Amino acid sequence: MCGIVGYTGINNVGGILLKGLKRLEYRGYDSAGVAIVENNGIYVQKTKGRIRELDEDDFPNGNVGIGHTRWATHGKPSDENAHPFSDCTGEFAVVHNGIIDNFVTLKEELIKKGHEFTSETDSEVIAHLIEENYQGDLVETLKNIVGMLRGSYAICAVQKDSNRIVIARDQSPLVIGVGVDENLIASDVPAVLDYTNEVKYLEDGDVAEISSNGVHIWDSLGNAVERETVEIDWNLEDAEKGGYEHYMLKEIYEQPKAIHDSLLGRLVEFNDVDFKQYDTRFIRIISCGTSYHAALVGKYIIEEIAKIPCTAELASEYRYSSPSEYLPFTILISQSGETADTIAAAKEAKQRGCKTMAITNVMNSSITREVDEVIYTQAGPEIGVAATKTFTTQLIVLYLIAMELGLNNNKLLRENAQDYRDELRRLPRHVKVLLDQSEDIRKVCEKLVDADDIFFVGRNINYPVALEGALKLKEIAYIHSAGYPAGELKHGPFALLTENTPVVAILVKDHTFEKMLGNIGEIAARSSPIIAVGDHDKELKKLSDKLITIPSVPPMFSPILVNVVLQLLAYYTAYELDCAIDKPRNLAKSVTVE
Ligand code: G6P
Repeated sequence: MCGIVGYTGINNVGGILLKGLKRLEYRGYDSAGVAIVENNGIYVQKTKGRIRELDEDDFPNGNVGIGHTRWATHGKPSDENAHPFSDCTGEFAVVHNGIIDNFVTLKEELIKKGHEFTSETDSEVIAHLIEENYQGDLVETLKNIVGMLRGSYAICAVQKDSNRIVIARDQSPLVIGVGVDENLIASDVPAVLDYTNEVKYLEDGDVAEISSNGVHIWDSLGNAVERETVEIDWNLEDAEKGGYEHYMLKEIYEQPKAIHDSLLGRLVEFNDVDFKQYDTRFIRIISCGTSYHAALVGKYIIEEIAKIPCTAELASEYRYSSPSEYLPFTILISQSGETADTIAAAKEAKQRGCKTMAITNVMNSSITREVDEVIYTQAGPEIGVAATKTFTTQLIVLYLIAMELGLNNNKLLRENAQDYRDELRRLPRHVKVLLDQSEDIRKVCEKLVDADDIFFVGRNINYPVALEGALKLKEIAYIHSAGYPAGELKHGPFALLTENTPVVAILVKDHTFEKMLGNIGEIAARSSPIIAVGDHDKELKKLSDKLITIPSVPPMFSPILVNVVLQLLAYYTAYELDCAIDKPRNLAKSVTVE
């Protein structure tokens, strides 16, 4: 979702802005633009479409500039609605990420005062508000106008004849890259890593001024503040494709390492959070998208291992639900740590009096500032829009949490904990075995590519895995697919089953296996092609058109392995259909608006 870059320093800025924007492409966008401070003015070029459609040859020389990739919210993708926006005088140029909820009122007032607008966006009001309120100092102006904005924002503004970039953030990500004789700003770290690995994260309400040799920050009360400089310990190579055709495939193949890294230093002793200081008799997990599916698996894991009642809820629903007298220990899961709904849910939970903990993959991301405790997944940067390795590592963390809770409340015996640890340790090897079979899995896609509708079914802990498998296929192969608890098929979806409706069925040898076999028989009777994923079984082999087996693990750990198969199925199906796998249409890696 919208990407921002900015540079002020001794080098020519045009190429730096384009490179930074490309590093943020993974966030998803539909238009792009730059503003470069030139002699006596500000040059602006913007376009609907890809970054490569910007004409670099036309850029003037300059040492200060800002760039933007837009993901349409207010106003369709078009040249006019692309950022940056200038005020009427052309003295300022602005880019914005987020949503200004009260822009209609602000725009009406500005129009009454004679301002002329060129776009349908909410963001353009910021440029005009700056012009209207400017009294000689851009920092003071921005401090003043952020108080008029309702909603979320990361704002960057440049001014004619000035080498400063003035920025502000509230609920939208923005980092400052601290260099030598140059400083940068960006929505995410990869955009500054070519120049520096030292960054400062702004806090909500901060306003800052950046020039080639200085960074000054003020908090929401207007007090000058220091924000810690953090050294980034991963490099661009970690975030690049490394020989794979797509980030998504690379990230699928990184899962053995991601699992290993997420277990590192946590298996023997789990010191990330001391759960004993909290009331954890009831747990609620809140999240969106793929992270929500991890939450649903987490519910089964926590109830099974620690015998603690647990619910999983969507952040966009929770935040508008009625508070109750229960104050569950609340876990927020967000790969990016920037998802607007999940951050809002964290605030809501805190407001209701719950203790909160985030599971995220991104150090110092916004959600980490909203919660009492944080656990990092250690998956490394994930660039592909469709989440893969981060889902897997979210589950790993949930197993670790459940074991810790189970040991604390004596529902998990020490010897069983030891067995679980051994199983967790073996998971990277099992995943590797599956990855080595990817060519066989690829062949199965022939059965999926021509389908208009596909069902994914499972029971118990593998029901959410069916949901995730269906989501992956929708996201990257654009095939309509629905995840279902297998027992529910007969309550409606049966009407849709024909020989043209493949069903991907998850069957592992747990207490639901026989029931699942019964369901498979019912599906076969309706002639739907069946692709079974799970444990080897003669009867299952007979009933299904194809059986993809996973290495043998206790059912509780099967979601990790089954899901790797479903990731590969989605990837190769999308590949056969020539889809934009890493940047699916209309989707964004992190959705920073409600
Ligand atoms: C977007 C992404 C999904 C992701 C969801 C939640 O929709 O496209 O892949 O699962 O956001 O993201 P989060 O960063 O909060 O886990």
